[in-house]
Amino acid sequence: MLKKRLKAEQAQSNVCADIAGFDFNDYDAHDIDEVRHYWLTYGVLRFKNTRITDADQVAFSRNFGEFVIHPKQLQEGGHPTHPEILVISNATQDGKPTGAMGNSEATWHTDTWFYERPPAGAILRAVKIPPSGGDTYFLSTYMAYETLPAALRKLVDGRQIFFQNVYDKTGKLRLGKTEPTSKDFREWSGMVHPLVRTHGETGRKALYLGGTADKAWIVGMPLDESEALLAELWDHTTNEQEVFVQQWEEGDIMMWDNRCTMHRRDSFDPASIRIMHRTTTSGERPI
Ligand code: OGA
Ligand code: MN
Repeated sequence: MLKKRLKAEQAQSNVCADIAGFDFNDYDAHDIDEVRHYWLTYGVLRFKNTRITDADQVAFSRNFGEFVIHPKQLQEGGHPTHPEILVISNATQDGKPTGAMGNSEATWHTDTWFYERPPAGAILRAVKIPPSGGDTYFLSTYMAYETLPAALRKLVDGRQIFFQNVYDKTGKLRLGKTEPTSKDFREWSGMVHPLVRTHGETGRKALYLGGTADKAWIVGMPLDESEALLAELWDHTTNEQEVFVQQWEEGDIMMWDNRCTMHRRDSFDPASIRIMHRTTTSGERPI
């Protein structure tokens, strides 16, 4: 039994808890175990108003697994001195982006769903926040699965889903990919994952929709049926779930479990600057 030193207080919804009492400059293995326990319990944790450095963030993240390098870290999202950090920013220097994602909306997704082993965790810290906009929303894909009507649940259990990995959601070619020759996206390069995945640590089942219903296919199902079912599943997941809304303040950290949650981000005024530093930890192949 864990002897509890930290406090986890449910924030707004079942999806997220605020962690109080964690000192990023003075913690031990026991404290990390507690954070992990709450992370697995809630799916999303918030640490408010931290005043930590990039090096502190990297050191903290190291306790939760190997780092994953996002392809954007090799492009505009690289950090000048910490290769473990993905910079999410709309700021430019000499007309060039100094981070990933710009100022636009990011629609509901789980991170890098088109990888063989999508990351388990993301730790996102607000470095600079615009006066308005850029809120981040979270939902639980455990809940999405558990609240499926029985008829839908029957249709998804045991199914696999194919995600193409040639283009990103904005239609840009992903790093290292070339234009496919086939008109049928199901013949493109991509990844197959279970549509209902069992979390490697909690054993709970979660619906796994990836990042977009566009050019995804429930393997073996006629395409029109697959598209109709995916539309229904997306609607169920994003419209009927409890959502946690993070309105950022500088220093806030959101730490999510990418195996059982989805998130989205609002757009914001391009004339203002928003800078976030993210570390990412490795996960198991979905089963
Ligand atoms: C991410 C992401 C949202 C944000 O880091 O994966 O989607 O609020 N970011 O910047
Ligand atoms: Mn994301």
